[in-house]
Amino acid sequence: MTTVLVTGSLGQIGTELIPLLKSKGYTVISTDIREPVDKDIFDPFLMLDTRDRDAMRKIIKDHGVEMIIHNASILSATGEKNPQLALEVNMGGIQNVLEVARQEGVKRVLSPSSIAAFGPDTPKDNTPNDTIMRPNTIYGVSKVYTELLGEYYAHKYGLDFRTLRYPGIISAGAQPGGGTTDWAVQIFYDAILTGKYTCFVDHDVLMPMMSMQDCLKATIMLLEAPEQNLKHRSFNVAGCSFTPAQLANELKKFIPDFQIDYAPDFRQEIALSWPRSIDDSVAREEWGWEPDYDLSKLTEYMYNTLKSKLDKQ
Ligand SMILES: NC(=O)c1ccc[n+]([C@@H]2O[C@H](COP(=O)([O-])OP(=O)(O)OC[C@H]3O[C@@H](n4cnc5c(N)ncnc54)[C@H](O)[C@@H]3O)[C@@H](O)[C@H]2O)c1
Repeated sequence: MTTVLVTGSLGQIGTELIPLLKSKGYTVISTDIREPVDKDIFDPFLMLDTRDRDAMRKIIKDHGVEMIIHNASILSATGEKNPQLALEVNMGGIQNVLEVARQEGVKRVLSPSSIAAFGPDTPKDNTPNDTIMRPNTIYGVSKVYTELLGEYYAHKYGLDFRTLRYPGIISAGAQPGGGTTDWAVQIFYDAILTGKYTCFVDHDVLMPMMSMQDCLKATIMLLEAPEQNLKHRSFNVAGCSFTPAQLANELKKFIPDFQIDYAPDFRQEIALSWPRSIDDSVAREEWGWEPDYDLSKLTEYMYNTLKSKLDKQ
């Protein structure tokens, strides 16, 4: 039984990743800066601010932590509102995770990156794994830093660091935490509850997205991939790309009267600086990645799951 520390456990991804890790036999130590409402999912749970290196070290020593999944982060839209906080949490957090992991002999660190690590100068279509990375958001800068610092710790100290660049993650569980792809989740809530949605990016903004099922599958596959198979440590992963208008059309198959309008805000500019679609052939070659969900399967799953959840409330 491998003991895994998860930071930022109560977020959109941690909430679904933790039960899956437990079901696969991992011993999971869940941590965050806020108390969980549903304590069973996260048990055992400990408070941990990832800016606090000594507190992190104590948890790692007390519990014999062998792997860290570092999910605590300030996301893209929230980061643009408060860049200093993003600097402290995102840069400070990964520095602490890597340094404590090195000092305490933690075997493996997986810390997610994002398509936000790419920027306006990156080729936008079928963005390659290894290409120009000059993001212009603080979140993107922090993700490039995460990748490069993790790779540095791997070659300098032999720490087994891995990261994957998630696109926008779409789920019916915990709500997304302040990213630029949040529209692709909120649209389902508003469509089911009110029949209409006002989107904060324009109708034709094509963005890479992924179902939570594919996100969890990719995360576990990379976490468990034999180290000797990995030539890279930072990986593109793709699900499917779509625009708000394309998602709205799919949703109309379930809610024929659904109406969408558009009021682009500051997040439009962030979205336009990111890739439109992702080439994930390196992940396919090195650890067998393949997504299961396209736009139509994702829409059907989200509609059915959220409808029954919201009907019960
Ligand atoms: N969800 C997505 O669409 C998406 C896309 C690309 C990358 N990612 C990355 O995946 C990882 C997990 O994302 P998520 O969607 O679950 O994020 P989220 O925003 O839903 O959750 C982040 C969690 O971190 C916690 N947190 C904030 N500051 C903290 C601190 N100082 N110390 C400890 N915890 C703190 C928050 O309370 C929250 O529960 C992040 O690295 C994120 O950048 C997510």
